[in-house]
Amino acid sequence: MAEYDLDVFGQLINDPVRMGAYDRALREVVKPGSTVLDIGTGTGILALLACRYGARRVHAVEVDPIIQTARAIAAANGMGDRIEFHPIDSTQLDLDERVDVVVSDIYGVLPLHRRRIPVLADARERLLKPGGAMIPLREQLWLAVVSAPELHRVVTEPWARNVFGFDMGAARDLAANQWRRVELEPAQLASAPVTIGGFDHGLASSPHFTATVQVPVLRDAELNGLGMWFDSELAPGVAFSNAPGNPPLIYGNGFFPWPEPVAAEKGDTVRIRVRATLSGEQYVWAWDSAVLAGGVDSRPRASFRQATLLGMALASDELRKLAADHVAALNPEGEMARMVLEGLAQGATLGAIAHALREAFSDRFRREADALAHVTRLSARYGQ
Ligand SMILES: C[S@@+](CC[C@H](N)C(=O)[O-])C[C@H]1O[C@@H](n2cnc3c(N)ncnc32)[C@H](O)[C@@H]1O
Repeated sequence: MAEYDLDVFGQLINDPVRMGAYDRALREVVKPGSTVLDIGTGTGILALLACRYGARRVHAVEVDPIIQTARAIAAANGMGDRIEFHPIDSTQLDLDERVDVVVSDIYGVLPLHRRRIPVLADARERLLKPGGAMIPLREQLWLAVVSAPELHRVVTEPWARNVFGFDMGAARDLAANQWRRVELEPAQLASAPVTIGGFDHGLASSPHFTATVQVPVLRDAELNGLGMWFDSELAPGVAFSNAPGNPPLIYGNGFFPWPEPVAAEKGDTVRIRVRATLSGEQYVWAWDSAVLAGGVDSRPRASFRQATLLGMALASDELRKLAADHVAALNPEGEMARMVLEGLAQGATLGAIAHALREAFSDRFRREADALAHVTRLSARYGQ
């Protein structure tokens, strides 16, 4: 399924800080005759820039159907013969030659986004020449304690009270265990930002992340949660920062709310433990926080243990289905997908597959056209 709509690709290109940094990094790193791998080419903008700076060949890989538009854009700019488009996941890509440069922007709000870290490690290990360049090179994660009652209200208020007098508290518990993209102002930080670690794409690194920090509170304030963002070094000397107060970038900042506000005083300490565990395609986040009155050894004013798993509206049997030892049977949707994929693999026409599908699942497809629409959707995604 497409992760981005066209407007997001447009916003990416319209972000002057991001584009300026990627442009500078490619200009510095790409040499005449270089070969480049562009992971997640989107509209092809980074591949075009690599060509402009002299790349002999760019392998542009993209799972989203936007790749068709990228092809048209490359042709319109006279670069179609130098950019080879691969409509697959980069981890499925095999190349005859290793490349000089791997470029990507597959960030989310944070560098821990979907399978980004293993995808970059795979490209570095299989597809990059020894000593070749990774853009981005590395990133640093930052955290601060946030005092932003207005952000907190957005999370909790819909569930706190309503004119009909219903208790909506169960939804409030879910909402407090989900983190969000926000744009933090420097005035919303109640502590100095602290760096909690990072990733270096030149080195092997685990996709999982853990950090424990103690952060002093700088002023009397109502504390509402944690803010997190990243700095990126795209190439030596070429960087951008998502720190509050800098010109905002498309990535924004993460707000990890607390379930309830805490009245804290200057000199309090907040003890924080953050964990991000890649589970399949998604990160599971957990954040434990304790606000300690005064020094680190004092009694907590409040402490919370939160996790995105607690923010998922899943019944316990659904949670069990996520366990590694669970054995899943195909549901009817899965049976239909299997029939279509087997048909494609055997070289049957879409019409013939649709006919067989309708015969087998007549309660699902009243008309042959509905079955054909289903088949063409799967064929567009998994066929070639
Ligand atoms: C943020 S967009 C960047 C688009 C473009 N490179 C730019 O800078 O404007 C990320 C794109 O990467 C694609 N993508 C992410 N991981 C990928 C992978 N492993 N293989 C192929 N495409 C991937 C997504 O489908 C998405 O279109």
